[in-house]
Amino acid sequence: MDYHEGFLEDVISGLSQPLKKLSSMYFYDEKGDKIFQEIMRLEEYYLPEAELEILKAQAAELVEGFDHDFFDVVELGAGDGSKTVYFLERLKVLGKNFIYCPLDISPDVLETNASLMKSRLPDLKVKPVPGDYFKTLSTIDRGIPKIILFMGSNIGNYSNGAAVDFLKKIKSAMQVGDRLLVGIDLKKNPKTILRAYNDCKGVTRRFNMNLLERINRELGANFDLANFDHYPTYDPLTGTAYSFLVSMKKQIVRIGSHSFDFKDGEVIHTEVSQKYDLEQIEKMGQQSGFGSVRHFMDGRGYFSVSAFE
Ligand code: AVJ
Repeated sequence: MDYHEGFLEDVISGLSQPLKKLSSMYFYDEKGDKIFQEIMRLEEYYLPEAELEILKAQAAELVEGFDHDFFDVVELGAGDGSKTVYFLERLKVLGKNFIYCPLDISPDVLETNASLMKSRLPDLKVKPVPGDYFKTLSTIDRGIPKIILFMGSNIGNYSNGAAVDFLKKIKSAMQVGDRLLVGIDLKKNPKTILRAYNDCKGVTRRFNMNLLERINRELGANFDLANFDHYPTYDPLTGTAYSFLVSMKKQIVRIGSHSFDFKDGEVIHTEVSQKYDLEQIEKMGQQSGFGSVRHFMDGRGYFSVSAFE
């Protein structure tokens, strides 16, 4: 996920707001991708394990009633496919006949994805589509029935209203009978959630700090990382995990000809990771025009893969 277009403009405009912000989309440069892989292996970061448990144990249920001789599995923001491959393996065992179309902004990660599929599922036809998945989704063949995957709780990065807009957009690319499977992190003990974004090894801290390093590297800024701290929070009233970077002193940071004043203690908002309960997910489904929503959860009830039709 290496996304440059408009990086400078977005950084300048985000830091010019009264409440400074930077988009979590820019976490994922080459180094950020690696740190995120580390996050996914953290004991505290329960999300990947919970989602994988569902994909492995409930694959048959997730595709129940989707009885087509031939269909496409389209994955939005597919990444390296390391979890999806388990799901696809099980679909093959169930005798399903499909093509896998991973959509991702990063051509590199799509290559990794395709080679993983080739080694684990040599007979699977893979059609990688590089680019912004909103743009590429509409170029995908409408004539063939589809299962669309949006995994990893990526939907959590949208605030609630934006998530509904997002679902509406996906729905407009779907035909009657198509199925959308969305991996969604659920509300749970607030301490469990906060720990996932505040790991004891400081990997998530590095993940956030890397955004400042990236701005230094790519945009020639002079953020002094020693003067910034990472502050993760979770608010159980709204179900929102927020991440911030905190200026540890009054300072001025320059990016080219632009300069930004930071007060001592001033924050930059870097990420939203929204958590939902099942009722909220159903409501989002209705608001986005879907006729039904069903949930498939892990044993602990931490995570849901929800099926929208
Ligand atoms: C990839 C958006 C699902 O919000 O949990 C992990 C990113 N940020 N740790 C999330 C993330 C900090 C992650 N998503």
